[in-house]
Amino acid sequence: MDKIRVVGGNRLVGRVEINGAKNAALPAMAASLLTADSVYLENVPYVRDTLTTQDLLREMGVEAEILEDGSATLKASDVASQEAPYELVKTMRAAILVLGPLMGRFKKASVSLPGGCAIGARPINLHIMGLERMGAKCDVTHGYVDAATSGLHGSYIMMDTVTVTGTENLMMAATLAEGETVLDNAACEPEITDLASMLRDMGAQIEGDGTRTIRIRGVKKLHGCRHRIIPDRIEAGTFAVASAITRGDVEVSNCNPRHLTAVLAQLSQTGAQISIGPDSFRIKGRDPISSKNVTTYPYPAFPTDMQAQYMALMTQGNDSALITETVFENRFMHALELIRMGADITVEGRQAMVKGRKILTGARVQASDLRASASLILAGLVAEGETWIDRIYHLDRGYYRIEEKLAQLGAQIERVP
Ligand code: EPU
Repeated sequence: MDKIRVVGGNRLVGRVEINGAKNAALPAMAASLLTADSVYLENVPYVRDTLTTQDLLREMGVEAEILEDGSATLKASDVASQEAPYELVKTMRAAILVLGPLMGRFKKASVSLPGGCAIGARPINLHIMGLERMGAKCDVTHGYVDAATSGLHGSYIMMDTVTVTGTENLMMAATLAEGETVLDNAACEPEITDLASMLRDMGAQIEGDGTRTIRIRGVKKLHGCRHRIIPDRIEAGTFAVASAITRGDVEVSNCNPRHLTAVLAQLSQTGAQISIGPDSFRIKGRDPISSKNVTTYPYPAFPTDMQAQYMALMTQGNDSALITETVFENRFMHALELIRMGADITVEGRQAMVKGRKILTGARVQASDLRASASLILAGLVAEGETWIDRIYHLDRGYYRIEEKLAQLGAQIERVP
């Protein structure tokens, strides 16, 4: 298994280009199941999770091909199986995203239950509740959700927790249901708006995406489309922290700064100097780094997917910062590894108190999930000596060649087979 070796101490300077958003590409690929026509995607990140989705779709009979330049062609004209098997779902929870489109177009689906993971229990009760409200019968047996319907119908669906993939699944299912579906307390993440705009290009009638109430009027049939995936706001945010933590000067280009409003506001409170352009921003790290509390919430607030990276930054703060995680109940595994590098962090339930002014020292650490891996790399960039990060298959799920991009900015980092 590959490892990442980082030697801390270098200031990052230069320009980095951001890839397409993994969390927008995954639902877009699943949406290709809604039509027999060809779907062309651009800016799909060539990372483990999109390649796993390619495998899953191929197993169902979809012609699917992603290229490293970000283009993808998908054609679901000959779907032979409506099953997402355990072997694939266990490596990528987002495989649940095929449930909605399969129900919409084929009226049946069998999808392995994702189960818990390193960041929380992550149930899918709201995906199931929504489909049942639309007329599906869902049985959970032998670790699978088996769903079937004689035809989905529109419904009013109130989700008591904001769920990103839940909103995406129900929005996709509703595009081919009879009548109008209203999704209330829907997620408003940019990835939802991106999926809605792609579905509209396929002929779907959707309004209100980007707000808490989405209305979908079902149509008989969807057609093919060409769609460009939005830039990855979490990858952009990760490089922003890399600049801040190394007191660097980095231009983060090919991104959408409007999707990063809360993240950039938080980083500027810690002292970073940020100037924003239409599709890029420049961030200069400053000394001292001010310790500032943060609480994660669904979009447009500070994202849970940036919490681990922000924690690495706060280990270098001038005081103490309280980090509160409200989205997932167990997303502090990286704290334990940061402590092994010399950080002073106390975790209690959903809160972590990070005392700053700590000199981190390189160590052998293990990544527990995708964003935790990024956090350990960021800590390694400022740690004394060598940090070796193990289990980087988590990193490869969502970051495209992150070590090469960091090396180009001046970091001493390499992948060691
Ligand atoms: N939840 C329920 N019931 C449900 C669904 C969700 O209780 O039926 C709860 C979850 O347990 C969690 C909260 O709702 O406490 C929010 O979970 P959500 O469903 O929004 O998460 P997700 O859709 O599974 C997506 C991203 C995650 C990101 C979260 C939150 C994708 C493929 N994944 O997950 O991304 O953290 O939204 O923004 O879009 C990552 O990229 O590293 C990552 C984990």
